Amino acid sequence: SLPLKINFLHRAGVVVGAGGSRSRTPLELKDIFIAVKTTRKYHKSRLDLLFQTWVSKAKEQTFIFTDGEDQELRRRAGANVVNTNCSAAHTRQALCCKMSVEYDKFIESQRKWFCHMDDDNYVIVPSLLKLLSSFQHTQDVYLGRPSLDHPIEAAERVKSDGSVSVKFWFATGGAGFCISRGLALKMSPWASLGNFISTAEKIRLPDDCTIGYIIEALLEVPLTHTHLFHSHLENLQRLPTDTVLEQVTLSYGGFENRRNVVSIGGAFSLVEDPSRFKTVHCLLYPETDWCPSEGHH
Ligand SMILES: *[C@@H]1O[C@H](CO)[C@@H](O)[C@H](O)[C@H]1NC(C)=O
Repeated sequence: SLPLKINFLHRAGVVVGAGGSRSRTPLELKDIFIAVKTTRKYHKSRLDLLFQTWVSKAKEQTFIFTDGEDQELRRRAGANVVNTNCSAAHTRQALCCKMSVEYDKFIESQRKWFCHMDDDNYVIVPSLLKLLSSFQHTQDVYLGRPSLDHPIEAAERVKSDGSVSVKFWFATGGAGFCISRGLALKMSPWASLGNFISTAEKIRLPDDCTIGYIIEALLEVPLTHTHLFHSHLENLQRLPTDTVLEQVTLSYGGFENRRNVVSIGGAFSLVEDPSRFKTVHCLLYPETDWCPSEGHH
């Protein structure tokens, strides 16, 4: 099956998705469950920046999935912090363990959309709401950035004995991805209550690949490809400056390149704001108290 493509008409601000009509009750922020995956050692260096910026615009619906108790984080985000009790190791098993808890908490939440983010993503909340508004949560929607330019091929070890291989696309976890409630419910036999971990063990693939495997290979629902989501694995400098604020997620850095950031000028220098998240935030919400007041720059 051919992947669906989204045509994003930047100037008109119209998203033409698979959903069609826009006459239903408008989607509200409270309908979205945003999971941020993190680990104990990044609570200070990464989460502080997120709380200061985009999370402040989506406090109620953002849930932090981590692996260690932290009184300060608990005071800041209360019940929106979930200690997964998963290992803090950056292994396939530990990452799948966290994804499994994220999935279960989303199902429990009764919300319409599940969006997974990493702790180095900036979520442009109005863009996310606009994008999801063009789809129906009751339909099968899996939305994200394909991490490769071709589908991945893996041995089919869930429905058969592994002698057959399957090809499927998956959304790269580092850029964030979203799943409609309708589709998430269908994933249950392979994703709920620890089943996600056993599914990932069978195919021996990372958490984001396993999500793609369940959706594309087992449920035969195609990934809706979008380039509005961004991870640190891309060259972020290449993103045209005048389109930065229209994206859905941004990222920064990466292992090899600390200077891999979106090119955008404004309130703060590269030294003051190495990730560019504060600069983006002040362009989106200039009224924020820590943003320089109008006319200062
Ligand atoms: C993690 O362990 C604590 C303490 O035993 C428990 O209260 C909590 O529910 C556990 N978290 C999850 C997601 O199971």
